[in-house]
Amino acid sequence: MQSFPAVDPIPIPAPIWLLKLLHIVTLALHFVAVEMLLGGLLLAVVLSLFRNSPNSMVLARAIARRLTVVMTFVINLGVPPLLFAQVLYGRALYTSSVLIGVYWISIIAILTLTYWLLYQFTGRLEAGKSAWWTGLSAWVLAGFIARLLSTNMTLMLRPEVWRQMYSASAAGAYLPTGDPTLTPRWLLMLAGGLFIGGLWLVYLSGRSTFTAEEKRFAAGLGGKVAVAFGLLYLAVGVWAADVQPEAVKAGLATHPLYHFAGFAGYGWLALVVVAVLLAAIAGFGKVSAGWLAWAGAVVALLVEITFTVYRDGVRDLTLLSKGYDVWDRVVVTNWSVVGLFLALFVGGLVVVGWLISVVARAQKPMEGAA
Ligand code: HEM
Repeated sequence: MQSFPAVDPIPIPAPIWLLKLLHIVTLALHFVAVEMLLGGLLLAVVLSLFRNSPNSMVLARAIARRLTVVMTFVINLGVPPLLFAQVLYGRALYTSSVLIGVYWISIIAILTLTYWLLYQFTGRLEAGKSAWWTGLSAWVLAGFIARLLSTNMTLMLRPEVWRQMYSASAAGAYLPTGDPTLTPRWLLMLAGGLFIGGLWLVYLSGRSTFTAEEKRFAAGLGGKVAVAFGLLYLAVGVWAADVQPEAVKAGLATHPLYHFAGFAGYGWLALVVVAVLLAAIAGFGKVSAGWLAWAGAVVALLVEITFTVYRDGVRDLTLLSKGYDVWDRVVVTNWSVVGLFLALFVGGLVVVGWLISVVARAQKPMEGAA
């Protein structure tokens, strides 16, 4: 029986490859921001517990101040991949979104509360008050949002359970369980958060707004955290790959197109190892050099890109094994709209780059200054 709803008669207005490229680029950037939020927040919460350690408090405040900005990137870099995913996978993604509708729509409210708690956390830290419980509440909520996203992104790959789920409850208030890929996939994002969070501290140790002692502290702590959670990230990544269906594993090894995604998986593995080695130099060699900070940041970005390419291959191959071929769509490219979109996209990137350069050139107070 055909599980996917009938295809929309309106053709796709741009080449599939272009939509997929934009999807992967924007989603990888969303993941960088998500990981900074999930990992940075938990690290800031833990650091804020050490109220008698000036270094811990300076670093907790420095991370917290940045997290409210990171959250804007999480949201703004989440919208484009959502739109591209809906265009490419609408018949699967809309169905799964409706099936968990109550939870799916509640993300907006949970996100708003998380954002408010983040501001509370930062404000209380700035005022020298105890703040860990506000930060921890924000982290738990963000982790729950991540869980809901993982739930939907895996449910969209399981047309075989949709009908039975809908028969059990049409209210959209039932969260599915029983998918072996869901928990490893969610834990991968959580472990990745602390790994990227550790690398973020190493990056911060290269900033001139910290004293030499604070830099050493940030590099040492960030490096050790990134080593520990980088190894965990590797282990969960291997687990998440291992629980994929056999058809997906075979496709990643041999499919003419998705073989490339399989390579990206190996690239991801190699890059995480490189990042762990860089983190070890920072964490155990007690080095806070500028090159190390930048190298960590670049490798972190490449880790997220290779991860996103691999994940994309897993999705397409899973759907393909169930009769949904993302490439099999009628495309009638509207080049004037595509051209306008690309011009605005590049223009937007230039404006963001300019904004970042203005912030970078601005005179900044030392992080520890009252
Ligand atoms: C605290 C806020 C957020 C967190 C922690 C978060 C976390 C995540 C995680 C963990 C995933 C991967 C799920 C998986 O495949 O296993 C994900 C994917 C995604 N997120 Fe976010 N997210 C957040 C906010 C948002 C927002 C506000 C949007 C959109 C407006 C968004 C859009 C997306 C989309 C579209 C995907 C999947 C895209 C795809 O697979 O094609 N996220 N997010």
